[in-house]
Amino acid sequence: MMKLAPSILSADFSNLLKDVKIVEEAGCEYLHIDVMDGHFVPNITIGPLVVESLKGKTDMIFDVHLMIEEPEKYIEGFSKAGADIITVHQEAPVHLHRVIQLIKAQGVKAGVSLNPATPISTLEYVLEDLDMVLLMSVNPGFGGQKYIPAMTEKIRKLKEMIAEKGLKVDIQVDGGINPENVREIVSAGADIIVAGSAIFKTEDVSKAVQNLRMKGEG
Ligand code: DX5
Ligand code: ZN
Repeated sequence: MMKLAPSILSADFSNLLKDVKIVEEAGCEYLHIDVMDGHFVPNITIGPLVVESLKGKTDMIFDVHLMIEEPEKYIEGFSKAGADIITVHQEAPVHLHRVIQLIKAQGVKAGVSLNPATPISTLEYVLEDLDMVLLMSVNPGFGGQKYIPAMTEKIRKLKEMIAEKGLKVDIQVDGGINPENVREIVSAGADIIVAGSAIFKTEDVSKAVQNLRMKGEG
């Protein structure tokens, strides 16, 4: 069973809770929160204050994707704000292993994300410490970009690597996912599908969620 994680990056920020409620009622399991600092990626989005303001207003899993430099400085802040999972980029901190331990010490689930060009072998020695790996299927920074086809093979390889090690680590895929390609991505091994524009930039958000799930489950 695939899980859906709508990215609020494409939601209506002047009506954020309304959009959040629609995706929750449509059955989405995760709320994907894209945090950008204008350094690691060329865009600035939201901080812990926004996460905190949504806390207690929805039962969805708060899935915080940190696209920031020096993520170690903000783990506690996002954890206190209500994050259930914190994902940091492999490319961002100097001491990835230490940051993962920091996340877990907060009692929060830990994820690591890979940019499209970063090989999965970079996770070999931390995979067993992770709850989730987030494979970026676009270059992080903006919603509405095109899925990079080579990422399907990367999902397959990661699935194999997890199975070979006998681990239970979720694979989340993020970027350019739509009803046309979601089946290919789920078949390759994705457990959690992130979608921003394919959910929120549509006329009927609830219908878009149902359609994505139907196509994804095939
Ligand atoms: C991109 C973000 C994504 C983005 C996905 O840097 O990490 O979560 O919002 O948006 P779509 O689904 O429109 O590619
Ligand atoms: Zn994201």
